[in-house]
Amino acid sequence: MKNELVIVLDFGGQYNQLIARRVRECNVYCEVKPYTMPLEEIKELQPKGIIFTGGPNSVYDEQSPHIAKEIFEMGIPILGICYGSQLMAYTLGGKVETAPVSEYGHTEVSVETSDILFGDVAPTTVCWMSHTDYIAQAPEGFKITAKTPVCPIAAMSCEEKKLYATQFHPEVMHTAEGMKMLSNFVYKVCGCKGDWKMASFVDETVEKLREKIGDGKVLCALSGGVDSSVAAVLLSRAIGKQLTCVFVDHGLLRKNEGDEVEAVFGPEGPYELNFIRVNAQQRFYEKLKGVEEPEAKRKIIGAEFIRVFEEEAKKIGSVDFLVQGTIYPDVIESGLGKSAVIKSHHNVGGLPDVVDFKEIVEPLRMLFKDEVRKVGLELGMPDYLVFRQPFPGPGLGIRIIGEVTEEKVKIVQEADYIYREEIAKAGVDKSLGQYFAALTNMRSVGVMGDFRTYDYAIALRAVNTSDFMTADAAQIPWEVLSKVTNRIVNEVKGVNRVMYDCTGKPPATIEFE
Ligand code: XMP
Repeated sequence: MKNELVIVLDFGGQYNQLIARRVRECNVYCEVKPYTMPLEEIKELQPKGIIFTGGPNSVYDEQSPHIAKEIFEMGIPILGICYGSQLMAYTLGGKVETAPVSEYGHTEVSVETSDILFGDVAPTTVCWMSHTDYIAQAPEGFKITAKTPVCPIAAMSCEEKKLYATQFHPEVMHTAEGMKMLSNFVYKVCGCKGDWKMASFVDETVEKLREKIGDGKVLCALSGGVDSSVAAVLLSRAIGKQLTCVFVDHGLLRKNEGDEVEAVFGPEGPYELNFIRVNAQQRFYEKLKGVEEPEAKRKIIGAEFIRVFEEEAKKIGSVDFLVQGTIYPDVIESGLGKSAVIKSHHNVGGLPDVVDFKEIVEPLRMLFKDEVRKVGLELGMPDYLVFRQPFPGPGLGIRIIGEVTEEKVKIVQEADYIYREEIAKAGVDKSLGQYFAALTNMRSVGVMGDFRTYDYAIALRAVNTSDFMTADAAQIPWEVLSKVTNRIVNEVKGVNRVMYDCTGKPPATIEFE
């Protein structure tokens, strides 16, 4: 069965993924496509609706992305957002100009509640604006459906042709009733029924995987993170013992993590799969000896990981398929590839080049992180695995500033364990995007039981973030920080000072290296 589909045509806006996510939150499947996609291909997809994203350009610039007028004549409902709205106006004969007053941020907008898009929306509602151009004149056949004191056409529509446009961004959460507007578009304008449900995704994917794999042999690099764990469980449901999971313990995991992963996926766990744990700790420590530079450490850890994995794969023999836990943001981000490389993980190399296999299987390729979690729950996986916070591939290797040694790993593991335990006890864990302890490379003087100490400082970090691209330092209650500090200096040998990182991203990054 084919799901109803809405496509988002990407004109370079920053919220392209967010729009797709919001549509999926309405239980309608949605994919982002480049604006250059030929109309014929769009037609073949038989979308129930199309959404044009915003973008940084001006429609009257020749270099800016444009679109063939025919797209508006295909009978497919279209919603243009920001640049997308201006493009709709411009292409259909309206006028777009530089606005005398640019609008940024929260803006009160008066909307025509009789318009389908604004059904159930309050007559005056707060929307998120971010524009320097505006529609100065709507094309023929359009009526103006929203305005602000300085933006005479904040939204317009042509009901007959099912064309809708908003200057503001309904997809961002600052637009108080944005979800209602998007839901009105997909349900009332596009006529969707909402058939995108995780239960059906799981059943259909299991079916497809069985068909594709037949009696082939499948290999999965399991890290214990959410994506690879969900991918592994999905595969195990589909093909059971034909799947082998290789879990490389590089000695840079959090305290007890290796055993926890083994408890779930190993022979004692609930899944029927082949599980290989490779205890390669010493190999990694050896390679990391004397290396201080963060990118060098990342590359060494990545390369060694691949080597270990490759050795195991060779032992298993010819593999037909390799599973990867790629998710939708990875797909979109690697497709755009325009941004500067801050850390090499943002351009993950991956395993495919080194293992002899026929094909890659990426069952989560089209899912956002929150959807992956829903699949995990649907598969009956435990909450603590499904709601894990992200953990970087190089692990504690990039949470120890400077050279990594086994001793430093132990210190940071213990400190991090205490921090996590106290955060969970205080009940603040659910509200945090990510939190962890890192080992600074700084030693300082302290006094303990009348003796001078010269020990390491631990840095605690906790951030609130929705996408990990930007983040704010979280405000952890002082009592919690104080308790964690006490416990760390008392219980972790080699530490005499604890600090809290108050920096946001930017200018810092979430991890220390
Ligand atoms: P940064 O430090 O760039 O982190 O603000 C953003 C998110 O990415 C994670 N991260 C990594 N993940 N390999 C990974 O798989 C890495 O090398 C890596 N570095 C950072 C980080 O934990 C955060 O969630």
